[in-house]
Amino acid sequence: MVRIEDIAQHEGSDIQLRGWMFNRRGSKRFIFMQIRDGSGFIQAVLNREEVDETLFDQIKRLPLESSVVVTGTVAADTRSKLGFELHVKGVEVVHSAEEYPIGKKEHGPDFLMQHRHLWIRSRRQHVVLRVRHSLVKAIRDYFDSRGFLLFDSPLLTANACEGTSTLFETPYFGKMAYLSQSGQLYQEAGAMAFGKTYCFGPTFRAEKSATRRHLTEFWMIEPEVAFADNDDNMDLAEDFMATIIGEVLDKHGDELREVLGRDTTALEKTAEGGFPRISYDEAIETLQRLHAECEDPETKQHLAIEWGSDFGGRHETELTKLYDRPIQVYDWPYAVKAFYMKRSERDPRLARCVDMLAPEGYGEIIGGGQREDNLEVREAAIDHHQLDPADFTWFTDLRRYGSVPHAGFGLGLERTVAWVCGLQHVRETIPFARTIDRLNP
Ligand code: 4AD
Ligand code: MG
Repeated sequence: MVRIEDIAQHEGSDIQLRGWMFNRRGSKRFIFMQIRDGSGFIQAVLNREEVDETLFDQIKRLPLESSVVVTGTVAADTRSKLGFELHVKGVEVVHSAEEYPIGKKEHGPDFLMQHRHLWIRSRRQHVVLRVRHSLVKAIRDYFDSRGFLLFDSPLLTANACEGTSTLFETPYFGKMAYLSQSGQLYQEAGAMAFGKTYCFGPTFRAEKSATRRHLTEFWMIEPEVAFADNDDNMDLAEDFMATIIGEVLDKHGDELREVLGRDTTALEKTAEGGFPRISYDEAIETLQRLHAECEDPETKQHLAIEWGSDFGGRHETELTKLYDRPIQVYDWPYAVKAFYMKRSERDPRLARCVDMLAPEGYGEIIGGGQREDNLEVREAAIDHHQLDPADFTWFTDLRRYGSVPHAGFGLGLERTVAWVCGLQHVRETIPFARTIDRLNP
């Protein structure tokens, strides 16, 4: 059995393909079946004069998405992207489909998400999900080839990591457990044991807002490094991002441009590295200037910001429009960030942390920073955030037994895929998206 992706090796031979007929055109003499087998797309041509009459009539009426086994000769065809087509000798219909709900007409996103199990068969969705696959591989390769140990964090946890407002609870043998919002705290234990570790798995946040950047279940890659400060962390994040984007561009640049219509200029810039680093203070000044100069009342209203606030989506969008590649915004106000951040020794109002913001308005794709390694400051922060110290004994122990400066970050896979593919919404970047209003399919 031949796969479409290997078709070039079979030019001139008779072969068999197994797949689905996703489209069809026809004339009196010819039927052009479009066949998909999962590895690619090919045109299979039936000539009325060369095949059985009843077969020709059957295929003429065959519903879209019927499954078929097609036999024929592989012929070069310079007009197709693939470079080959199949001259059909026989077709076995494995299953004649019912009328396919996804047609040529435009469907709204709700309809498509409701039919996600079928929508993933489309050419665009194939590109998006293959980009996701390649990104995952590039990410793993990056850390595996640089001395990081894969160190899986648990998904069922006893405590919050990223604040209690987005916790999913689940009964756990007479107690409550929480679905992990981040594997970071366990990576800190991993880094103290192995020097450099990472985890890459699903994380869960009960996000009550339905935005184009939020899923309730998303995948995060989280490296953690011992004997590293936030500058080392930014070096790592930049080299990592430039490398994985370069690899994905090498593999998928053509189909990003041709199938998704993606302008890949910003991705090419990203692969060069050299991401601007901007302190939170500078970013606030820039945003306040943008606000003062803004003439569109709707945008202006969303751009207002005071020192001390976290950025909203609109702030990220407008700020990143000023740059041609990702930027790293560092040293945020201590008060708005998570409890585990390292308090700056230079200025205690600040935390030694960083957000990487993607260009073209895609916003935050990485969040991370240096971790508080001082036992007293650590305990005070747990107290201040009203967390139960008993849940964190193991975590504070890391500050009792050989504490060292350490840092790490988390990259959101779906936001990265959305940016690479130029998608408006993260819901298309994962096979089956989970959002506030979707648990099915
Ligand atoms: O900035 P966040 O919340 O950082 C952490 O969880 C750290 N503990 C990570 C670490 O230092 N090890 O999340 C990291 C990234 C964000 O930058 C974003 O890309 C993604 O995870 N993310 C989401 N993606 C989709 N849907 C959501 N609801 C997301 N929340 C965060
Ligand atoms: Mg963040």
